[in-house]
Amino acid sequence: MASHKAGTALLLVVALAVAAGVGLGVWIKGAAPERAGGASALAAHAGKDYFRATYHPLHFKPAIETARDEQCLACHREVVEDRVRPVSPAGVKAAASLAWYQRTSTYRGDQDTFHRRHLVTPLAKELMALACNTCHQGHDPRDEAPGTSATGPQPNDAAFTLRKQVNPETTCLKCHGQMPVQLMGLPGPWPEHKEAFGNSCLTCHAAIRTNRHRVNYLRADAIEAAGRKDSEVCYGCHGGRAWYRIAYPYARHAWEGMAPEVPEWAQGRPTQSEARFRLAK
Ligand code: HEC
Ligand code: HEC
Ligand code: HEC
Ligand code: HEC
Ligand code: HEC
Repeated sequence: MASHKAGTALLLVVALAVAAGVGLGVWIKGAAPERAGGASALAAHAGKDYFRATYHPLHFKPAIETARDEQCLACHREVVEDRVRPVSPAGVKAAASLAWYQRTSTYRGDQDTFHRRHLVTPLAKELMALACNTCHQGHDPRDEAPGTSATGPQPNDAAFTLRKQVNPETTCLKCHGQMPVQLMGLPGPWPEHKEAFGNSCLTCHAAIRTNRHRVNYLRADAIEAAGRKDSEVCYGCHGGRAWYRIAYPYARHAWEGMAPEVPEWAQGRPTQSEARFRLAK
């Protein structure tokens, strides 16, 4: 991800880049309200002044909780429009430098940006319905640290994530944690033992923990359909792209045929998804 932390320096860069005719992506950030016809009047007004836009109320609670993607995209089109370079400045071709997690059966298309891989690429659209505010819950744009101003987050704010714009524990970890094979009774890592289970998670999960993925940022039916054809789809979010050494402690929804006793590891687990992600029944 490109970092745009360089506040005022950005304006200079924009001027230079536009002069050079290559700065469209960066320029859009500054100029979007004028470009985006459907943007709300508020966004258009605030967008006239860079600092006002930076502190636009949509960035903070409570407004961010109900913000729609179009409202954010009125100013931040670069998030879904910018693409990675086909060749790095040092001459490395993107197409020739695929990481291990890009050499799986589920990876399609050219290398792409972080935001696009979660919002607009084919796999993202098929399986997920992430919104800006699924991840972005508001952060202190000043220095991303608590206790530095009277109006910002305070040092005793346990929910604050230092120097981060989103909280990885409540977002990324859900789809990028380890597969907890011990509690599933599997003899070891999935890649080593999958053949013994027919290379399908559904060998067990057709009957166990069947009440799953009923949240507003996932497409539950599409996930089941895709997971039936290719276990990499399931594994992809449950260990196959693990950026963490821990697993996410999922809510344990009751399912048909579930034993009444709760195993020790599951004691204290919630029995419903987080309130903000639940679907209206
Ligand atoms: C009125 C225009 C406008 C709207 C609407 C807007 N933003 Fe911003 N946003 C900005 C500007 C300007 C900045 C400062 C950019 C910078 O410093 O690079 C910013 C900064 C950010 C940053 C931090 C970037 C950084 O590097 O510090 C995030 C994250 C962000 N916005 C997300 C959102 C989300 C999510 C929404 C919708 C809920 C939203 N924005 C709505 C204009 C807007
Ligand atoms: C999967 C979670 C996720 C989703 C969904 C998401 N973002 Fe982000 N976004 C991030 C992360 C992580 C960063 C980098 C945060 C940091 O540097 O601390 C980021 C950074 C940004 C930035 C700063 C500039 C940059 O590109 O680094 C902006 C602006 C932004 N997001 C806007 C948006 C908007 C608008 C949407 C909806 C269209 C959106 N994001 C959806 C996780 C997400
Ligand atoms: C709802 C599930 C979900 C959440 C939440 C999520 N991801 Fe992902 N992530 C995915 C999937 C699925 C892919 C694979 C996309 C593909 O291969 O097309 C992926 C791919 C990635 C990639 C690789 C992109 C590439 O170019 O191959 C990175 C890096 C990543 N995620 C980081 C994050 C971070 C950081 C967060 C939290 C801010 C996050 N993800 C949150 C599901 C998720
Ligand atoms: C040998 C049978 C078996 C196989 C094969 C299996 N699982 Fe499981 N899985 C279980 C059992 C048993 C549990 C725990 C059920 C409970 O809550 O009591 C479980 C729990 C889970 C959980 C919830 C973990 C938690 O902490 O709440 C996830 C997620 C999961 N499995 C995903 C998968 C995926 C993805 C695959 C395939 C890559 C897979 N499982 C293959 C038996 C299996
Ligand atoms: C796009 C990412 C993604 C894919 C693909 C995916 N999962 Fe999940 N899975 C999640 C997330 C996120 C949760 C937690 C949802 C919530 O908050 O309730 C979850 C929860 C679960 C749970 C816990 C159920 C419970 O009690 O709530 C099981 C079991 C599970 N997944 C198995 C599977 C299986 C089997 C497949 C393939 C058919 C699969 N997953 C594919 C992201 C994914």
